[in-house]
Amino acid sequence: MRYNLYLTCPRGLEIECANELEEMGCENITIDSGGVFLTGDLRTIYTVNHLSRLGMHLLLKIVQLDCKDERTLYHEINGINWTKYISYIQTISVNFRARRSWVTNTQFAALKVKDAVVDKIRAYSGKRPSIDIRSADVPIDVFLDGTTCNVYLNTSGDALFKRGYREKIHKAAINEALAAGLVKLTKWSSPDPLFDPMCGSGTFAIEAAMMALKIPPRATRRDYSFMKWLNYDSYLWEDVKLDAENNINFSSKMKIYSSDKLIENIDMCRASAIKAGVDKYIRFSVCNIKHFRPLTEKSGFIITNPPYGERIGGDDEELEFLYTTINERFNNFCKGFSVFMICTESPFLEYIEATPSSSIPIRNGKLECNFIEYNIPSAEIRSPNA
Ligand SMILES: C[S@@+](CC[C@H](N)C(=O)[O-])C[C@H]1O[C@@H](n2cnc3c(N)ncnc32)[C@H](O)[C@@H]1O
Repeated sequence: MRYNLYLTCPRGLEIECANELEEMGCENITIDSGGVFLTGDLRTIYTVNHLSRLGMHLLLKIVQLDCKDERTLYHEINGINWTKYISYIQTISVNFRARRSWVTNTQFAALKVKDAVVDKIRAYSGKRPSIDIRSADVPIDVFLDGTTCNVYLNTSGDALFKRGYREKIHKAAINEALAAGLVKLTKWSSPDPLFDPMCGSGTFAIEAAMMALKIPPRATRRDYSFMKWLNYDSYLWEDVKLDAENNINFSSKMKIYSSDKLIENIDMCRASAIKAGVDKYIRFSVCNIKHFRPLTEKSGFIITNPPYGERIGGDDEELEFLYTTINERFNNFCKGFSVFMICTESPFLEYIEATPSSSIPIRNGKLECNFIEYNIPSAEIRSPNA
């Protein structure tokens, strides 16, 4: 059976997400804003849930409806044969999103959808499924664009950025899917050296190492929505996992360095890296950026997420000092390096005396950011007479 699927992803990473799906052999890939359309069978659903590093939720489209008001919304949703997908002993949840539409209150619209689903199942079996907004067996996603209403089953359940390797997290950490996507955007590959000198909980380093070793991003996750479906095929799921396991390449030589000024952050990084199975491949150290220099390396990649004063970073004076220091370290000690930083539109970026070679708009949670690349000229280019 072929399904129409939609993989949501962080805004700004749609092309990388589509590339990743192509590498997995998915078909009919089309880029949308905030996600990617694709088609596939049950194996595709299991594979994408197991292997996608950039995806957030994999949704399976049940139907497209035309709903011009509250009454037609209830009527059309109630017309779906829900008993094909949900039994009364299961729990459900409804996530409703709308744009350019008559809906003014999405929570109220979600309640209408829930009533329509529950009424349908009760009419068929005499009993109704319960609601569980946190971890429903069958999460339902509804997107209304104008009057076009797409109804999906969420195959993932918990968001796919939840890899399961983090117990503690830095308060300004970026999510794992975004970190993996940004690492992909740098075009880094092992054995080129990769540094994060302000690593917080070490998300870039851990995601990069898992990527290079081909460790499935959620190798230890046990729970997906599709496992609660009536057609769940546990043999197929085991087969998908086995295929991925056989692809892991532990022999990869890696030079990934992750540092932060705070020892508690480095402790947190180590604990997560151990859980992710990549601690042997990352060199963690406590280091203030004012002492940072990639000693033996003549070129390589730096990817980092400096404080920008939103959740952490201190007052303007501290940030001014920090960005001046970053500028001094990168320009004097990282010659020949490609430097990538994810930042909000910060006035402190003016302290970086280099012209960005690219800047890609990226959404980091609620913050509009840019992923900026600086190519620091190599020593030879800078001093032609030397
Ligand atoms: C936005 S957080 C990084 C979050 C990280 N990307 C993650 O996913 O957890 C910024 C980090 O920069 C570190 N930092 C701030 N000033 C620093 C400095 N002078 N030297 C080194 N690290 C610094 C902070 O301790 C914090 O962990």
